[in-house]
Amino acid sequence: MTTTIPTALRTAGLAALIAALAAPLAVPAADPHPPPAAPSATVETDARPFPSGAPGEDLDAKVRAFLDRSRGRWRDMNVPESDGKILYDLIIANGYTRALEIGTSTGHSGVWIAWALSKTGGRLMTVEIDEDRHREAVANFREAGLADYIDARLADAHELVPALPGPFDFVFCDADKDWYKNYFVAVLPKLTVGGCFAAHNVSERQRRGAWGTGEFLAYVESLPFMETSFAPGSWSGLSLSYKRAER
Ligand SMILES: C[S@@+](CC[C@H](N)C(=O)[O-])C[C@H]1O[C@@H](n2cnc3c(N)ncnc32)[C@H](O)[C@@H]1O
Repeated sequence: MTTTIPTALRTAGLAALIAALAAPLAVPAADPHPPPAAPSATVETDARPFPSGAPGEDLDAKVRAFLDRSRGRWRDMNVPESDGKILYDLIIANGYTRALEIGTSTGHSGVWIAWALSKTGGRLMTVEIDEDRHREAVANFREAGLADYIDARLADAHELVPALPGPFDFVFCDADKDWYKNYFVAVLPKLTVGGCFAAHNVSERQRRGAWGTGEFLAYVESLPFMETSFAPGSWSGLSLSYKRAER
């Protein structure tokens, strides 16, 4: 749906326009994630309903409270908070809505990803093979208030990922490292142009192939239509491979 800003509002000056458009998105000053830059005079709005109720300050407060309570208690190979924030920012900045996570564990990265998707109008499918971790993740997603944004699957990703129809515009790969290349090959035809395949524990210093991720990195970097960089600020290593063209 396209909404045209009235002439009177336009003539009120750029500052007033930005304030008017940004106001509904405003978050408390202490928020580490400021609202996105103010849109231009023609605003694209997404008319699709959110899964249940409108996300907003209530959901933000619930997620923040959950993350605060859980800080220091993530013990199942979960991403550090700093990487969770990187994933969150990446999704918001690119407006991604169709996300896949390979390797849920107990759900730390899933919470950050789904929180971002609650703002873009998107949804996450996440896959975990371990039943206890899957169960704990589902409980965490509920407690964080994000269950409506997540389809959590208990499955072997070796089988499920190739069978998924897609499309996806954001994939976070964080399961068995020696299978990264296979996951990437399975997902590539379902990754939209502009989409991102993010792989955890992949960095310049692991280029020689720690845990088998080197094979993945060499392969993705050999594809001319993929553009790979490393997220600055991730001490665990996070490669970001953007699909720039279909082939
Ligand atoms: C590094 S942990 C994921 C951490 C999670 N992304 C987070 O930050 O909370 C990797 C997870 O991948 C799961 N995994 C390993 N092989 C898998 C497979 N073939 N299918 C699905 N999950 C798998 C493991 O059981 C483990 O829980």
